[in-house]
Amino acid sequence: MQLDHLSPLTLRDPHGYSGKWHFYPEDVLPMWVADMDFPISPAIVQGIVERLQERVGYPQMAGDRQLLQLIIQQQGQHGLTGLTPEHLLLTTSVVPAIYASVLALSSPGDEVITQVPVYHPFLHALHEHHRVARYNPLLRTPTGWEIDFEHLESLVTPRTRLLMLCNPQNPTGRVFRRDELERLAEFALRHRLWVMSDELWADLIYEGVHIPIASLGPEIAQRTVTLTGPCKTYNTAGLGGGVAISHNRQIVAALAQVAKGLGGHPNVLSMAAWRAALEHAQDWLQEVRTYLKGNRDFITGFMAEHLPQVGYLPPEGTYLAWFDFSGAPFAQEVHKVMLERAKLGLNDGRIFGPQYQGWLRLNFATSRHLVQEALERMARVMQTLD
Ligand SMILES: Cc1ncc(COP(=O)(O)O)c(C=O)c1O
Repeated sequence: MQLDHLSPLTLRDPHGYSGKWHFYPEDVLPMWVADMDFPISPAIVQGIVERLQERVGYPQMAGDRQLLQLIIQQQGQHGLTGLTPEHLLLTTSVVPAIYASVLALSSPGDEVITQVPVYHPFLHALHEHHRVARYNPLLRTPTGWEIDFEHLESLVTPRTRLLMLCNPQNPTGRVFRRDELERLAEFALRHRLWVMSDELWADLIYEGVHIPIASLGPEIAQRTVTLTGPCKTYNTAGLGGGVAISHNRQIVAALAQVAKGLGGHPNVLSMAAWRAALEHAQDWLQEVRTYLKGNRDFITGFMAEHLPQVGYLPPEGTYLAWFDFSGAPFAQEVHKVMLERAKLGLNDGRIFGPQYQGWLRLNFATSRHLVQEALERMARVMQTLD
């Protein structure tokens, strides 16, 4: 597979298909929204073509049985066992499942706790639906990001209903350890909170093991909805597809009720792609994961050597690098500076939580020479401003 030789000339497709490559002007290297520049597995293409050769009338509303079984099998490999198709609700993608979880598991005015920085639709779902977001900032320690359990405890009030977890974590790349997840589960049970655990990045990790919080015991399983989908692992964002999973069938029913009529029926091509991915794209995934780890290590080396003044902790998972420029003279407008002077299109840290002004997120799922080019552009801007 051609992972190493991608060129902006072909990535910026002439049709305007790619949101990432057509958002910024042509001289900007876009490394923002989280999809990969790599082509998808040929097995997925074949799965879609074969599905098109069958009738494409209305599918079964609950979803393709084989797909549901494959998802159950995949969750079982992560340790989330005892699932049947009745525990699964297919959604058009993961973001609608985030919104449905907020709507189903809390009411307007309720308080919801989440670690920040975090994937911005968590915060949008809360604000747009009049829930009160309570932030528990992750602590930066010399060895990595840690959960501040003391602060977490102080956030609980009689109105607290829901804990929103992102594991592996976007944007820090943390993969939470078993002891951390056990403490979070104990916390949620003691305060009778519901838990929404977005585990979309579970299969893109380089260190540690992914542990679904709902796998820690029957009690926490009864209070948790786990969300996932194919789009990060197999690079199929434009095809959609997601699933909300809970051992508690009342949670599944509550999500189905709020999503009713809005999500439509499952999309047959999206399901075919997801099935083909789970069945036949494991070699592709292995190759891509190894390459991404190489990119991660390259960034770690580059930052230490050329940009030690920029805060960075190597992500254990995801293909996202999270940079702290808050000590730079232009910290207030770092996104604009990188866009205008370095010609780099990154994500502004502020979207991941109000306190992350001066931070940037970089998507490194592209050829290494483009990652290198991006970091060199950053370093040049830093040199001119030193
Ligand atoms: C944690 C997390 N959840 C959900 C999504 C989006 O999922 P989807 O495209 O399936 O809606 C992303 C995309 O980056 C993500 O990082």
